[in-house]
Amino acid sequence: MVWVIVILAVIAVVCVVSIEIKVRHKPSLEGIEDASAVKAYDRLSQMPQFAAMRGIFVNELKRHNPSGILADVGCGPGYLLNVLASRFPHLNLLGVDISREILAKARDNLTSFANIDFKLAGSQGLPFAANSLDFVVSTLSLHHWSEPSASFREFHRVLRPEGQFLIFDLRRNPPILFHLLMRVITPLVVPRVLTRIAEPLGSLLASFTPAEVEDIIKGTPFREFEVKKGFFWLFAWGRKG
Ligand SMILES: C[S@@+](CC[C@H](N)C(=O)[O-])C[C@H]1O[C@@H](n2cnc3c(N)ncnc32)[C@H](O)[C@@H]1O
Repeated sequence: MVWVIVILAVIAVVCVVSIEIKVRHKPSLEGIEDASAVKAYDRLSQMPQFAAMRGIFVNELKRHNPSGILADVGCGPGYLLNVLASRFPHLNLLGVDISREILAKARDNLTSFANIDFKLAGSQGLPFAANSLDFVVSTLSLHHWSEPSASFREFHRVLRPEGQFLIFDLRRNPPILFHLLMRVITPLVVPRVLTRIAEPLGSLLASFTPAEVEDIIKGTPFREFEVKKGFFWLFAWGRKG
């Protein structure tokens, strides 16, 4: 009897860790504008799980040897730019965000870095000349974009030939375990001001599956690209020909 229970328990654990869940796509708000939500997101961004995600992102970025001018689209309060400025001091960095409020927070957070410039703009209409950037990156922002396809076309316009993009985001088909953790932990640790705007569960539901991101990029001029999945995240990389 004990063995049956142990075997069933092992099967249950394997299922929640390995079986992927796919829930219906539910778009979320485009920009974080509310001042108290910006403050709460800024605090959340300093927590170890967010620092760990930035670590995962930087490891992947290193593989693509970034150089020249790099724009972080949807930079939020700027913590990734902070890491990039110290890990890749040779880069000229641009922080872009659609929210005036959060961009002001990023400016405040990064006053000590002279090589970072900020622009208020949406991913679908970047204030840069054609063929002017070497790299476009973005973390945890793609699921907010109202026009993802137009945004990838815009990246193609602003990137120089051989320029690359690397996008990191949640994926809407994570293992059941992650989905359960989000549902259980969110109400316990996330500030009310964020749960009121449906974060962070809303972000998971608004995110795309790797197959959906591939379909979006296929409809743009990028011909060399790859979408990879991690435990609960995805990476989309591409290069302009
Ligand atoms: C969840 S935050 C992520 C911030 C930061 N990149 C990070 O990893 O913590 C999403 C950010 O994307 C911005 N955003 C949403 N839609 C955008 C768009 N279409 N273009 C540029 N920024 C956008 C929001 O204002 C917000 O600052």
